Amino acid sequence: MAFLADALSRVKPSATIAVSQKARDLKAKGRDVIGLGAGEPDFDTPDNVKKAAIDAINRGETKYTPVSGIPELRKAIAAKFKRENGLDYDWQQTIVGTGGKQILFNAFMATLNPGDEVVIPAPYWVSYPEMVALCGGTPVFVSTKQENNFKLTAAELESVITPKTKWFVFNSPSNPTGAAYSADELKALTDVLLKHPHVWILTDDMYEHLTFGDFKFATPVEVEPKLYDRTLTMNGVSKAYAMTGWRIGYAAGPLQLIKAMDMIQGQQTSGASSIAQWAAVEALNGPQDFVARNKAIFEGRRDLVVSMLNQANGIVCPKPEGAFYVYPSCAGLIGKTAPSGKVIETDEDFVSELLESEGVAVVHGSAFGLGPNFRISYATSEELLEEACKRIQRFCGACK
Ligand SMILES: Cc1ncc(COP(=O)(O)O)c(C=O)c1O
Repeated sequence: MAFLADALSRVKPSATIAVSQKARDLKAKGRDVIGLGAGEPDFDTPDNVKKAAIDAINRGETKYTPVSGIPELRKAIAAKFKRENGLDYDWQQTIVGTGGKQILFNAFMATLNPGDEVVIPAPYWVSYPEMVALCGGTPVFVSTKQENNFKLTAAELESVITPKTKWFVFNSPSNPTGAAYSADELKALTDVLLKHPHVWILTDDMYEHLTFGDFKFATPVEVEPKLYDRTLTMNGVSKAYAMTGWRIGYAAGPLQLIKAMDMIQGQQTSGASSIAQWAAVEALNGPQDFVARNKAIFEGRRDLVVSMLNQANGIVCPKPEGAFYVYPSCAGLIGKTAPSGKVIETDEDFVSELLESEGVAVVHGSAFGLGPNFRISYATSEELLEEACKRIQRFCGACK
């Protein structure tokens, strides 16, 4: 439509939201559907966090806040970075946004000019390239390999850096693969970045608290302090504290960048919800046992799903270190005929046939820039996961 802005032609709707909608539509028609598409914990927000929000309302904390957030939350964020990551930030070097999404968007908005390139390892979280394109930049993809557990190697990173590269987007543990980089694996990448001083690092640490076994989370500036002056370290309360609907994300970085992001946010949404900010203060400063408890639950679910998927004909499922996703390959089913009679030619065919024939909703890998794979979110009960995996096994066994 001529009335709409050209910028709209640069973005695609979210495939993950589309899958959730399709699953809801089928359910509304009475179909028995198990949705494994959504990227949010199935737990409720902890009671102490809810209470902090209710107390804030009762105290009358219901007015506009400073654009970058209330000082109490910004100080809690600076303390979190020190306590958990060994990073030194003044609280003025932090910013609070309406979800991690706004932080990322405003970082790109504040820095990208036409022609600027943003390196994004694939598979990637669906919003990165769309945000970059909306802000006028050019996403540059670099594929990882399943045999490397979807982790980018130093040579792969080196191969895509050009004089136009402005940002390198790093996400560990990853959405959609769950892959998480150890400090040593990350050091290989930060060594490359040290050689290219014009490249800034945007690290999305959203799934920091969801790592399993004795895996130790690492973030770029912790591994390579020399990158401090050109790294934006982003995080949020959505996944760690089951607070997706509260919409609080945050970041810390060089003061000039934070001020530029504050300027954009000031003409856009201003401060995030005052009530949600007080809830986030409690999430960060209060007891942390919720995090450990849920991590253990997710780990059990990961083990169940990986084991059952690897028993399905034609599926190969790596065992990721974190997040609540697995990213199995369905290459073994490409070229086969589904029970409906349709030949499976792509991962998109695979997921749509699986949904039609067994009522299991997953997201095709090509939506995340690397296939033939599919993403399963295991943020749902063990009973449902077991049933879903049985149905996947049955479906794969029926493809000839
Ligand atoms: C990798 C990654 N980054 C950022 C976000 C955004 O989180 P928020 O809910 O804080 O906007 C998500 C949410 O799905 C995500 O998966």
